[in-house]
Amino acid sequence: MIKNICCIGAGYVGGPTMAVIALKNPNINVTVVDINKNRIDAWNSEDLSSLPIYEPGLDEVVAEARGRNLFFSTDVDKAITESEMIFISVNTPTKTYGKGKGMAADLKYIELCARQIAEIAKTDKIVVEKSTLPVRTSEALKSILDNTGNGVKFQILSNPEFLAEGTAISDLLSPDRVLIGGGTDEEGTNAVNALVSIYEAWVPSDKIITTNVWSSELSKLTANAFLAQRVSSINAMSELCEVTGADVNEVAKAIGMDSRIGSKFLKASVGFGGSCFQKDILNLVYIARSYGLNQVADYWEQVIIMNDYQKNRFAKKILTTLYNTVSGKKIAFLGWAFKKDTNDTRESAAIYVADALLDEQANIAVYDPKVVKEQMYNDLANLNTRKVEEIEAGISVFSEVYELCKDAHAIAILTEWDEFKEYDWKMIYENMKKPAFLFDGRNILNGENMENIGFVYNGIGISKNIE
Ligand code: UDX
Ligand code: UDX
Ligand code: ADP
Repeated sequence: MIKNICCIGAGYVGGPTMAVIALKNPNINVTVVDINKNRIDAWNSEDLSSLPIYEPGLDEVVAEARGRNLFFSTDVDKAITESEMIFISVNTPTKTYGKGKGMAADLKYIELCARQIAEIAKTDKIVVEKSTLPVRTSEALKSILDNTGNGVKFQILSNPEFLAEGTAISDLLSPDRVLIGGGTDEEGTNAVNALVSIYEAWVPSDKIITTNVWSSELSKLTANAFLAQRVSSINAMSELCEVTGADVNEVAKAIGMDSRIGSKFLKASVGFGGSCFQKDILNLVYIARSYGLNQVADYWEQVIIMNDYQKNRFAKKILTTLYNTVSGKKIAFLGWAFKKDTNDTRESAAIYVADALLDEQANIAVYDPKVVKEQMYNDLANLNTRKVEEIEAGISVFSEVYELCKDAHAIAILTEWDEFKEYDWKMIYENMKKPAFLFDGRNILNGENMENIGFVYNGIGISKNIE
């Protein structure tokens, strides 16, 4: 019986996942640890609107479980010592140096965790990989734990997380499935069962599937690759729609009604972002190449190439539509987050579109309901394409949309926040420079209504002037 769980890494995955595990297992103590003190302080803050990540419903879950059986701490050693099960939920970004630079996952944070667990543990532990990892990482983890430890026994499980940001709490509360990979010998099976029983507190048994470790690790990469591929596929069709007179929303609806295809994840957009899709596909491509499977690698790499193309194409469309110059023109960005209902901006299309327009000397004005100015500046600075002073001069951040759009030459919608649909678009139009251009990178507005107001409206995958 597991009585104490520790989770290393209090980020977008570790925080919400552990909050829900604690909520549903009041008899298990769950301690989430992180080396980042500011993050832990924010998780512990009295004011629930100051949690380090924004997720609908997260505040209520934390309010109920925190202090009861959910704890946030920087004392990693203590949490490791006291727990029978340790989740590793640290970040695994794409490598920015050395072998596999720009492609492989950087496992240094995982390895540091493993070494720390090996050093501290004095009793047997079940170690659970929660971070997305390349196939066969558990082998490396096992080797570190078994060879550098204090002679205690470790069981390693893979339990990939499938939650999407913005819907993390509802995804966790009613998951499509829970996947647990583990060893098939007696000890492995016992470890798998221990984790199964934690999820069984709220997930129906038939939705909890167990596999070997490698299948579990590869399933996570495959799921993200398939999802991203759907977005790139519909985005590829969007350009064809624009030149042929088809409407990508109609095409998506028509194909989505085929039950073999399904209607979800077919929304054409300015391009996918987020911390997972690109990273996981690059990782998949790297693994395939490392086994010499070049056709497999090329096939999946095309999903990324298409996505980069889509982001660029959007920026280019703004430029060409505005008479090939945006120099000195105010371009209002609605949204910066990579999708609605999150404050996460990792790999957000907005960053790349802004960068391309800054190259053309645009004055970019941004409003996002959840992303702070410093984050936007950091995102652009991390591209290393220009100096901080140039970023600050080129990007101004607004907290109110009508001021944002005042005297703008164009509006670009980068994130599909619901509130954008509710604005007084007539008033926005009246205060803009004319012609007033509107580039809807998420197809959230009704183009006909916008044209009736007076906007020159451009959606994704919606053709203009073709009958
Ligand atoms: C297809 C479309 O399904 C149908 O909607 C369209 O009208 C005509 O083209 P069809 O070619 O008759 O129909 O058969 P389908 O069942 O789609 O199979 C096509 C090929 O894909 C077959 O060789 C089949 O064996 C193969 N296939 C299908 C797989 O290898 N794996 C699968 O999961 C599904
Ligand atoms: C994804 C997976 O969905 C999740 O299962 C996995 O655990 C982590 O990676 P996430 O990145 O949080 O989750 O969000 P997701 O909803 O998948 O969106 C990713 C990106 O694709 C966003 O930028 C979104 O705007 C874009 N997208 C999604 C589209 O452009 N069109 C769509 O139809 C769906
Ligand atoms: P994810 O989206 O995968 O949850 P995040 O970057 O949001 O990624 O969260 C990962 C967290 O892991 C960060 O808060 C980071 O400080 C933490 N972390 C990384 N390495 C360690 C470590 N060795 N010990 C404790 N925490 C760590």
